[in-house]
Amino acid sequence: MREMHLNLFIFGCGHHRAAWRHPASAIERLNDARYYESLAQTAERGKFDAIFFADWHAIDNIADGPRSYFDPLTLLAALARATEKIGLISTVSSTFTTPFHAARTLASLDHLSKGRIGWNVVTSMFDSEARNHGYDAMPPHAWRYGRATEFIDAVQKLWDSWDADAVINDRHGDYACKDKVRAVNHKGEHFSTQGPLTIPRPPQGHPVLFQAGASEEGRAVAAAKAEAIYAVAYDLEAAQDYYRDMQRRAKLAGREKGIPVMPGLVTYVASTQAEAKAKQQALDELLPVATSLRQLESFIAQDCSGWELDAPVPALPPLEDFTGPKGRYATVLRIIRSEQPTLRQLLGRLAAGGGHCTMVGTPEMIADRMEDWWRNDGADGFNLMPPSLPSDIEDFVDQVVPVLQKRGLFRTEYQTDTLRGHLSLPPV
Ligand SMILES: Cc1cc2nc3c(=O)[nH]c(=O)nc-3n(C[C@H](O)[C@H](O)[C@H](O)COP(=O)(O)O)c2cc1C
Repeated sequence: MREMHLNLFIFGCGHHRAAWRHPASAIERLNDARYYESLAQTAERGKFDAIFFADWHAIDNIADGPRSYFDPLTLLAALARATEKIGLISTVSSTFTTPFHAARTLASLDHLSKGRIGWNVVTSMFDSEARNHGYDAMPPHAWRYGRATEFIDAVQKLWDSWDADAVINDRHGDYACKDKVRAVNHKGEHFSTQGPLTIPRPPQGHPVLFQAGASEEGRAVAAAKAEAIYAVAYDLEAAQDYYRDMQRRAKLAGREKGIPVMPGLVTYVASTQAEAKAKQQALDELLPVATSLRQLESFIAQDCSGWELDAPVPALPPLEDFTGPKGRYATVLRIIRSEQPTLRQLLGRLAAGGGHCTMVGTPEMIADRMEDWWRNDGADGFNLMPPSLPSDIEDFVDQVVPVLQKRGLFRTEYQTDTLRGHLSLPPV
């Protein structure tokens, strides 16, 4: 039976850029492992499939909010010991990592967590990251995706360098069967690695591969390789476009069961819609207007200094006339068209999740919309991006999850012990 999947995307004090400024924020706890442990435990109480960490290799605009956080792979080692069932997913950059490092770290984590690890392969984006790794600027997009494809192959070959039954622990004979642990002798355009790996095959065989490609090259890699996909969709129509395209590509790649797609979702939940809106407003009011305005001006290439903060945003030129980056501009146009926000509300929407979907309302209202997406080719699950942590994940788990469970859409108990099992993916 098809079930909804839920993934918690943990980011600092929450995904709203002003969340850390709130008097009750966890800003002082960002370097305390127990903060992340308790977030993971809350998600596990809600029977979520997994928690997820993004990763970037550079910081900027440091005064604007916390940008320093743990290396996610290291953090997962701590979380593996603080949780029992929930999946643990980290981003891994194929541009800045070698396959041997990644294969070894992820295999170690899969053993430490007894089969709960996933990896989100990204090609990274910023020149500032590239400059921390010996490049002058980010290498071209197509080159990065070529490298990502080879990276994934090489990592998986290294995991396959040990058969599942290679270790025999025969105290009077051999520790492992020699013919079940092999060199991989990978030599490609970007990497060479001899193998075998220094650690036995991971409990899941292959830790679960996530991808979040949006471009042509990104979608091609996701269709060919990913076992689950993170997506960005502002509304159901955008979600359906992406979902149907990815399922079509998956079928063409011979993947009969399709690939589960999880768009990001920002939620403000409360017992009345007015209360939920008040929560959103309270965070939006903490935004430093000057910084947020500068960001908006860069997205839409317009001077907004004469605009009234609490009046509706003026109409903008159509997408066809805009010559800058079109993705973000299209999102701004969509928000204006569907919500007719004031300038302050628009800044808030962009500051929490950007182009991801935002749902504001009672638990039933939010469950209705999630169900609508899930039933109508919009999503197989959601990558929850709470605007404020820990309060918004606690509210979601206590108020929305029971509604989804009552409707038979979401598990009431874990049925398996591995991430691969939670996502109903075939064994490898
Ligand atoms: C939920 C989600 C998480 C992402 N996490 C990261 C990340 O941690 N690091 C990163 O460099 N890119 C991250 N990305 C960006 C994607 O890897 C990808 O670059 C982006 O979706 C644009 O697609 P393209 O690379 O095909 O152009 C993420 C995207 C999504 C939707």
